[in-house]
Amino acid sequence: MIGETKAGDDPADGWFPESVAAGYDAPGGANLPEVVTPAVDVLEDLADGPVLEFAVGTGRIAVPLAARGVPVSGIELSRAMAARIASKPGGDAVEVTIGDMTRTRVVGQFSMVYLVFNTISNVTTQDGQVDVFRNAAAHLRPGGLFLVEVGLPDLRRLPPGQDIVPFAVAPGADGGGYVGFDQYDVVTQKFTSNHVTVSPDGTGQFRRIPFRYAWPAEMDLMARIAGMRLKYRWADWDRSELTAESTKHVSIWERDPST
Ligand SMILES: C[S@@+](CC[C@H](N)C(=O)[O-])C[C@H]1O[C@@H](n2cnc3c(N)ncnc32)[C@H](O)[C@@H]1O
Repeated sequence: MIGETKAGDDPADGWFPESVAAGYDAPGGANLPEVVTPAVDVLEDLADGPVLEFAVGTGRIAVPLAARGVPVSGIELSRAMAARIASKPGGDAVEVTIGDMTRTRVVGQFSMVYLVFNTISNVTTQDGQVDVFRNAAAHLRPGGLFLVEVGLPDLRRLPPGQDIVPFAVAPGADGGGYVGFDQYDVVTQKFTSNHVTVSPDGTGQFRRIPFRYAWPAEMDLMARIAGMRLKYRWADWDRSELTAESTKHVSIWERDPST
């Protein structure tokens, strides 16, 4: 089964319906304090007034940032994900608008718009990604910042003739297991993340989620189309230098201060 909709899921919630939202805040992984805190530290440091998170999800980053006293708003496609925010301590402080970050407008001007955890790649066309940059710029005051955190595509691990990069093979002790692999189309820059989960009883699930990758240089052009220029580029939240071995980047563009 590929991208199966489970009972109780609303198709309007896209790839993050109720069945995914229910487990999104489980302890570990991206919810570990050592993952969340460095991101919140940088965002707090860069914020100079109200900020807006595109694809705010369950408030994994927005809620702790708001707890530091930064006014945070969010745009989110999935009602199921967004519904988790208000139930978190301090979550009421985060004002969420349900909509698509390529075009949804929120009232106000912000000191920063941020889009983390690879979510620019969920927009699977170049036009759509340019629209994200344009929409971010439209929410910024002059001199405001747009921050993106996203993984770099693993193309260096693709030998000629191969389009698949495995990232997990995890047999379970109980007879089940999990296999994960990305499949790249280097012509269109589209890729899919494939998750094969086998239960101990032998039944399984195959989830195939579409993405589009863009190199940092392409994002710099998207930013320029939207009236922004690169200000900082780091390999991670620790502000380390981006190198050929980097697996992700945190990039920050500035809206022209004179417009
Ligand atoms: C990986 S989660 C990240 C959530 C949150 N930013 C975080 O860091 O935990 C991706 C989120 O992006 C949302 N999303 C995907 N495409 C979107 C779009 N075009 N507009 C708004 N939200 C979108 C999904 O519904 C999901 O909640």
